[in-house]
Amino acid sequence: MVKTKNDSKLLERVAKLREEIRLHEHRYYVLDRPSISDAEFDLLMNELKQLEAKHPEIVTPDSPTQRVGGAARKGFETRRHNPPMLSLDNAFSFEELDRFDRRAREVSGRQEVEYVAEHKYDGLSMSLHYEKGQLALGVTRGDGVNGEDVTPNVATIKAIPHRVDAAKCKRLGLDGDLEVRGEIIMPLKAFAKLNEQQEEIGGKRFANPRNAAAGSVRVLDPRITASRQLDFFGYYLLAGGRTPFTRHSDELEAISKLNFNALQWQRCASIEEVKEYCRKWEEKREKLPYEIDGIVIKVNELWLQQELGFTSKAPRWATAYKYPARQETTTVREVIFQVGRTGALTPVALLDPVAVGGVTVSRSTLHNMDEIERLGLAAGDSVLIERAGEVIPHVVKVVTQGKDRRLVKVPELCPECGSHIHKSPDEVAYRCVNAACPAKRRESLIHFASRHAMNIDGLGEKIVDQLVSTEMVRDFAGLYHLDADKLAALERMAEKSAENLLREIAASKFNDLSRLIYALGIRFVGERTAQLLGEHFGSIGALAEADEQALTEVAEVGPKVAASIVEFFSERANRKVIERLRSAGIDPHHAQQETVSNRLAGESFVFTGTLARSSREQAGELVGRHGGKVVSSVSKNTDYVVVGADPGSKYEKAKSLGVRILTEDEFEALLEGKLAPAQPGAGEKKPSGRAAKKARRSA
Ligand code: IVH
Repeated sequence: MVKTKNDSKLLERVAKLREEIRLHEHRYYVLDRPSISDAEFDLLMNELKQLEAKHPEIVTPDSPTQRVGGAARKGFETRRHNPPMLSLDNAFSFEELDRFDRRAREVSGRQEVEYVAEHKYDGLSMSLHYEKGQLALGVTRGDGVNGEDVTPNVATIKAIPHRVDAAKCKRLGLDGDLEVRGEIIMPLKAFAKLNEQQEEIGGKRFANPRNAAAGSVRVLDPRITASRQLDFFGYYLLAGGRTPFTRHSDELEAISKLNFNALQWQRCASIEEVKEYCRKWEEKREKLPYEIDGIVIKVNELWLQQELGFTSKAPRWATAYKYPARQETTTVREVIFQVGRTGALTPVALLDPVAVGGVTVSRSTLHNMDEIERLGLAAGDSVLIERAGEVIPHVVKVVTQGKDRRLVKVPELCPECGSHIHKSPDEVAYRCVNAACPAKRRESLIHFASRHAMNIDGLGEKIVDQLVSTEMVRDFAGLYHLDADKLAALERMAEKSAENLLREIAASKFNDLSRLIYALGIRFVGERTAQLLGEHFGSIGALAEADEQALTEVAEVGPKVAASIVEFFSERANRKVIERLRSAGIDPHHAQQETVSNRLAGESFVFTGTLARSSREQAGELVGRHGGKVVSSVSKNTDYVVVGADPGSKYEKAKSLGVRILTEDEFEALLEGKLAPAQPGAGEKKPSGRAAKKARRSA
């Protein structure tokens, strides 16, 4: 109950905070275009959390603080879909599309029918209900008639708005009671990362991104959903169980206007344009950050949809053109074991080379012995392999057993150094016990030099192999004491390349602390954890001294990660390496990123192609120092696309969307303030970001 003036002040502040946080979450997660820094965002969130902690009676279920966490639930309740969530008929050839089109033309009595072609995302279909603008219900498709109520889980997905704006609804002729249907997906990178983590903690691997998405939503503890990177794309908007518009394209536009991600779509004036769209994306789907398994084609005009009607299972006004599965059958020649950075033995199937969706595959990881047992696989068997996006190919199943099949056995001795192999009972992995196993050293160095760690360009596997086998490098610090002549004498090396590599190595001394922490290869410490640890402790020295208690004070660091860090730094050999790195001049301290100017505040950049004078990462850092932000994909909200040599599809997309394109020279001029910022029209600059807010306020 609001009684006093103070109470109403409090409520006002809380409402304001919630509104602002939602706005920034939308800019960050959906538009990929934040206008404030993470730290500023945290300040808002912390203030709200504190107010809510002091006054628990004002916490509402839709408050942004309620996204993560929540109590575990006993089971799912069933909810009925109205109308049912039907499935789609499939078309596997253009002839089938022609038949689909002929029927639509006949029923319409027209020469051409207009269609909408949409990406067919491979994920988990989801129905989201909003009541008076508030997210009220999230239900899985289930059997199409009844689904599972997973509301607390979907509420943790950042791309799913907790509320839709009343004014926007009104403009669209909606009253805030509506349903958005769409697909929850897991991006390919997140999928690969999740499986890596699962592997490390001995959890179960997911077979594909679709299973991973479903397995992340259909869980009883919403904290699990919250910890997974998931996205949502809408393809239907219903009000009172019906489409409130006269064309499907209006529906998709409304979905975007209400702050959902709309899926990728295009209006097509005829079936020929639809085919063009199918062809174009079949080629380009490899490059998408998520899986699509086809294109959905929908009749655009609602009246014609109604004329065409439904079969019992699917609409007659829509069909799914399916791309061929990227699966092939081949034979396992042999199974070998590779030793990784942590000494774990990974079984790898060597295959008869086979082309899968245009890429020749000759090996595939089998992950661990449990996986081999699950597959029932032996050398000599013929197997089905599958490639999803850029994810490494994997064995789906054994098709037929080989005549003289050889069962896979874990070697008793390490294939690299001949030391004993050990398996602890609480782990899936078998490991080489030798701390100095050259394979461990080699893999650790490769990780140390990798792009997201110390980013030493030119220190590839072939060079690392030689550095380790000649004992020129015994630990990370050894890299910083390399001799130019000896390096030039290695295979595949010459004076010039040795010089370049030494320059790269020297430059890596100036990397920030989080990169170094990540590069050390401490178990369970990924990039994000390294970043948080760096910010918290400020130096390697302080991190090395921290005990488990101090470590678990860091956000997202649990007892398992903490124990692993303590174990790493209690190892004498590791402490020595840190010491040697320090005396080679590598001891970065964390400091707030230095801001040089505010020139690019609120502006977003995409890089494509190879830059001549700096790496993309360095260029990205410069953007950050001037207040701008780098995003990965081009949309109409992107402000600049910087184009280097051999640009990719992003360049084409930028041109087609009319996004401003910069050469490297122009980009540098812009940083130096010598080039005027984006001008959408002939005249003034389009105001955007904080500058725009200011401009609007003073106007
Ligand atoms: S329309 C009655 N549009 O594919 C129409 N579905 O194979 C059914 N899907 O259950 C949905 N992308 O989970 C539609 N652009 C898209 C889609 C899409 C993916 C999924 C959806 C559906 C399944 C049918």
